[in-house]
Amino acid sequence: MNVLTNPSQLLVKNSDVLEAERILVIQPENDGFVPRLCQQGSVSVNVFTTSEAVRSRLVDLGVSDACIAYGECIPAPEEKPDTVILYLQKSREFMSYLLAMSLPLLTDNGRLLLVGENGSGIKSWQKRLAAYGDVEKIDSARHCSLYVLTPVDKPSPFVINDWKASFEEVVHDVCIMAETLPGVFNHGRLDVGTRLLLETMEAGFKGDVLDFGCGSGVVGAWLAKRFPGIRLSLLDNDAMALAATRETCRINDVDPVAVIASNGLESVRGRFNAIVSNPPFHEGVKTQYETTEQFLKASKSLLKPKGRLRIVANSFLRYPPIIETVFGHCHVLAKRDGFTVYEAING
Ligand SMILES: C[S@@+](CC[C@H](N)C(=O)[O-])C[C@H]1O[C@@H](n2cnc3c(N)ncnc32)[C@H](O)[C@@H]1O
Repeated sequence: MNVLTNPSQLLVKNSDVLEAERILVIQPENDGFVPRLCQQGSVSVNVFTTSEAVRSRLVDLGVSDACIAYGECIPAPEEKPDTVILYLQKSREFMSYLLAMSLPLLTDNGRLLLVGENGSGIKSWQKRLAAYGDVEKIDSARHCSLYVLTPVDKPSPFVINDWKASFEEVVHDVCIMAETLPGVFNHGRLDVGTRLLLETMEAGFKGDVLDFGCGSGVVGAWLAKRFPGIRLSLLDNDAMALAATRETCRINDVDPVAVIASNGLESVRGRFNAIVSNPPFHEGVKTQYETTEQFLKASKSLLKPKGRLRIVANSFLRYPPIIETVFGHCHVLAKRDGFTVYEAING
């Protein structure tokens, strides 16, 4: 609980800037910063996160569920925050989305604190933030920087529809339309690996099917159009992805059994005839790799007899030994452009 990431340590080091009446923390890290802030007692704390892993961890650490908003939009607060703390996000577009959504919520004299790792590009945000108001650097330490933004003009109201994008693709004569939002994988186009995965799905899908790490929902929705009898569940950790998935299902007339917010397979109940996935991959963030390893190890217990696991992954990732250990075999169904599609049957 006391373990803090470097950005959180920098915030704690500058505790004087945390003196406020109402703080909204946006995209906190999976650490003890928010519980620590809540313990101060004198400040009212609310949290917005798009990560189910962070939401459930905060609840485990004793933060009241009522203070945490998990979703694609920050609900209008009963009382406006005078301070927003925003943790730097990797996607520039998602950052702009979070700024557009949070700045209109601030009180008239409110300010926004932006914190993040120097190696993740926080310094470039000093310039970008200047488009929203006065920016000052507060501190730089622990390989991180902390800035304060005081908005000058009244920001325009946030309209989520302005941030939606869509694309359309045809695979095996099945046309799929996908709706996406900032930060969602595949925002605006079909990924090369995802296309390869769909191309291997010519036959053999029936019964209960789970799309793990569904992103915009394109894999599951395509499967439901190709094999109309399946009972489809789609799962992601990311609330932005789940919002896009619901929309993708709606515009394709696909009616899923469940759209599940889950960190890994934690919240999944029941067993499946097939689990399909373009799982999260290693991008220098250790936990991303662990998520997929754990998913592969646990997938067998969620498959019915003769149920199949089918995934696509970057060919360099060492998933086949894990799949072989779990299932006793690992078939290669396709390989192209640096991606490989693997299948294993629960036999
Ligand atoms: C490579 S993307 C694939 C998205 C989509 N299936 C496609 O092919 O376009 C992987 C997805 O896994 C999700 N993800 C990452 N970590 C996760 C976790 N711990 N539990 C569940 N889903 C996770 C990401 O949000 C992302 O949507």
